[in-house]
Amino acid sequence: RNQPVTVTVTGAGGQIGYALLFRAAAGAMFGSHTPVRLRLLEIPAGVRAAHGVALELDDCAFPLLASVDVFDEADRAFDGTDVAVLVGARPRTAGMERKDLLAANAGIFGPQGRAINDNAGDDVRIVVVGNPANTNALIASAHAPDIPVDRFTALTRLDHNRALAQLSHRFGVDTGHITRMAIWGNHSNTQFPDVSNVAVKGSPLAGSQLDRAWLRDEFIPKVADRGAEIIAVRGASSAASAANAIIDHVHDWFKGTPAGDWTSAAVMSRGEYGTPAGVFCSFPVTASGGAWHIVPDLKMSDEARSRLAISTDELLAERAAVAELGLLPVHHV
Ligand code: NAI
Repeated sequence: RNQPVTVTVTGAGGQIGYALLFRAAAGAMFGSHTPVRLRLLEIPAGVRAAHGVALELDDCAFPLLASVDVFDEADRAFDGTDVAVLVGARPRTAGMERKDLLAANAGIFGPQGRAINDNAGDDVRIVVVGNPANTNALIASAHAPDIPVDRFTALTRLDHNRALAQLSHRFGVDTGHITRMAIWGNHSNTQFPDVSNVAVKGSPLAGSQLDRAWLRDEFIPKVADRGAEIIAVRGASSAASAANAIIDHVHDWFKGTPAGDWTSAAVMSRGEYGTPAGVFCSFPVTASGGAWHIVPDLKMSDEARSRLAISTDELLAERAAVAELGLLPVHHV
């Protein structure tokens, strides 16, 4: 048995929390030899629900679940944490302007970044899920000056998995036979799901597989707008699939991505592929040694570059709005 890993989940009383925590406690993140300590953070209005989840976690008698604790205070919730999963966020409500949404979330992710900075374990890794995820990750990292920025990520694995599923249906092969998919840009409907490097059973797409009209009119909008489709059909936003993507993301971060393949995650841009430095942008990435690496030297068409630019322009606009509100430390602007 390995040393236990401490995982803090914010918004633990919400729907993603409910779909995530049981799988984390069952060992899905780190494998069957690594016990997990769960620390659940909620706002006071959500603490009772989180306590309810803790009771049910207890009742599963998971052999790997070393402890469960519930908090309504960030400093304590992040004490000694190895993995911080930031799910809790302020949702957009009717009539709310984007500026108000960004400000409300900065009020959450700034203090949580500071609390992680001051209390988490030395090797802490952070994945931001709550939307707008990329910009919330920027705000959190900006308030954590002692933590290397590469430890912060925003989740785009759900978009990646959605793309794999669509390609699996289209080509009639299991998702496991599809490699080198890439999600670029923001976790929003401006994202660019890019199949130009995809291989099916190891062979690059060719001939009718590269049906440009299908890619442009069906595949890309299907993946980019899938969140809205789930809400329309299910009557609630995606939760189990989001939780599954969080598990995949954390699992790969610790265990590495398979040889010959990559995945997608939003990491701090240093200008790779012409993206603006200083925003969290989704890239094709590999993981090894507990770190993400942007896949280098991929060819990009002019169309791909212009699609990516639309999404990074949105990231820049979000960053500018947050900076204008005085919510980013000056050195980050
Ligand atoms: P939910 O509303 O069911 O749960 C959110 C929970 O967060 C609530 O229990 C709330 O009390 C709590 N919370 C709010 N502020 C908090 C704070 N400051 N500290 C701790 N907890 C806090 O929402 P759900 O469905 O679980 O989604 C959560 C977030 O994840 C949303 O922002 C949603 O847009 C985002 N999301 C992101 C995805 C991605 O791929 N990046 C996919 C799906 C959802």
